[in-house]
Amino acid sequence: MAPMRLFYNLNLNPNPQIIVLDAGGQYCHLIARKVRDLGVYAEVRASETAAAELAGAKGIIISGGPSSVYDEGSPTVDPGIFGLGEPVLGICYGQQLMAHILGGKVTKGVKGEYGLATVEVDVADDAMFAGMAGRQQIWMNHRDAVGTVPEGFSVVGRTDSCAVAAITAPERKLFGLQFHPEVVQTTRGKEFLSNFVFRVCECAPDWDPRHRVPGIEQEIRDCAGERNVFFFVSGGVDSTVAFALCTQALGAERVRGVYVDTGLMREGETDFVRRMGNVAVEDAQDQFLTALAGVTDPEQKRHIIGEEFVRVQERIVESRHLMDEHWILGQGTIYPDTIESGGTAKASLIKTHHNRVAGIQKLIAAGRIVEPLKSFYKDEVREVGKELGLPAELLDRHPFPGPGLAIRCLCSEFDAPVRVTEDGWVIPVNSVGVLGDARSYAPVLAIDAMDHARATELTNRLTGMNRVVAAVESRVPLAEMQIRACSLTPERIAKLRQADAVVRRISHESGYDHQVWQFPVILIPLGTAEAPESVVLRPVSSVDGMTAQSVKMDEALLRKMSGELLAIGGVCGVFYDLTHKPPGTIEWE
Ligand code: XMP
Repeated sequence: MAPMRLFYNLNLNPNPQIIVLDAGGQYCHLIARKVRDLGVYAEVRASETAAAELAGAKGIIISGGPSSVYDEGSPTVDPGIFGLGEPVLGICYGQQLMAHILGGKVTKGVKGEYGLATVEVDVADDAMFAGMAGRQQIWMNHRDAVGTVPEGFSVVGRTDSCAVAAITAPERKLFGLQFHPEVVQTTRGKEFLSNFVFRVCECAPDWDPRHRVPGIEQEIRDCAGERNVFFFVSGGVDSTVAFALCTQALGAERVRGVYVDTGLMREGETDFVRRMGNVAVEDAQDQFLTALAGVTDPEQKRHIIGEEFVRVQERIVESRHLMDEHWILGQGTIYPDTIESGGTAKASLIKTHHNRVAGIQKLIAAGRIVEPLKSFYKDEVREVGKELGLPAELLDRHPFPGPGLAIRCLCSEFDAPVRVTEDGWVIPVNSVGVLGDARSYAPVLAIDAMDHARATELTNRLTGMNRVVAAVESRVPLAEMQIRACSLTPERIAKLRQADAVVRRISHESGYDHQVWQFPVILIPLGTAEAPESVVLRPVSSVDGMTAQSVKMDEALLRKMSGELLAIGGVCGVFYDLTHKPPGTIEWE
């Protein structure tokens, strides 16, 4: 057996046993992560990497992606990889691409398949599918699908909407899955990957995912050199863990923490950070709220907030006479922030995260940034935090986005009435979603039942809608409400902060906050002249934030929350988001 490696520097190992070819999928990096979790070193490479360069690997996985194989310029792979004699597994778009290149046919889907589905896997005796027969829950995220398999392949799995959900050509060691084995919602996903890695590719364990801290600290020291680190902290898990890593790696005297009060934070947050110690608080409320005045578009909000962060940083650096070349910026960026900002070669832009805007990109290009957690997922960050000995009170906090309440306070350019349709009420306010690895921006459908199955069926069937919410309670019938043109104002932010504090208090008192991964509260400009706003509850379960499921809530608890929310002046209705991710995102913008 090869020696175990105890560091987590992705550049230290020149010979990964498994190479994941990046076709732009939102979960591409997660595939590599899941293979490493199995104890086998894996790396992501560009999809077009020449076959000759892949010849040393024991196996190749082609990721999913947002394109159709028929799109001009869609990601492709060197056809030579299918002749290397090395096993290849195509996942989602990867399966379609493999079929397309090898002479099969991909058909354009009429109806997509997004979210949970059930696959029926046949009894097969090849190394990839042996022992995997039977009906099982999987996660789908596609519209196109393989229609005709290439010669030599047989179909070994199907769902109600997808006739070719798994394919095999065992003699050539080529396999395909239309579903995603790398996400937790595919219940036997780990076994599919394990079969490929160990039984098909015959990899030997050479990777230990624990004990990451020393490796990360070395990377920080290498990156900083003689320079000091100026660190923005938010009180959240990511920035706090990254800050602690830098402090431990460089010593407290070389790391400055600053918390920027943007005026977009939750109630009590600034006090929480003050109690953390070793961090200065910078009041920039007026600066952020002035810059955001009149803005309605989500991407514009995100860009403004990111740029204002850079401005505050420049101001602080200048005012404290910190010589530029002696300082670099530290950030708690984690992997999903990068990938959802379109930060890998072919990924589609879902949302621009505040730590990936132009000003920051310039610092990255100039080598003036250190992001110790940028290849990690949330659950890994928590593990690193545990290794560092940080308290559970901090590590168990729900994630809170950098742009804060601004992206939970929806705006509208137009007045528009609620429209009654045969499936429910269309609420004409747009929110962001992710469909087949690409961004969507579409109105919401409200229904009158807490019915997750119906919500999934509706988002799959209806185009032009990316979310379904249940109408919980309202002061007037939904058909009498309307969306009103409005932008971000300090008053609306304050209203949202109040609603969020109510929900946080009740979910903390009831212990519900421990049952969910995150619980955003969203304000939408829906109501009447007297009560112009509505509140949407968005509790979700997730592991890494890349996929998420809308979760149930006890009826009595929901009634209590809804009653207190409707008692807030100006709140007209309470809704409950039933949408999984995909096709919704966790945040609404
Ligand atoms: P979405 O809404 O894309 O969010 O499903 C996935 C996770 O990321 C958080 N999020 C952010 N975190 N800066 C952050 O630090 C951001 O700009 C940002 N936008 C979303 C979100 O709260 C969820 O946990």
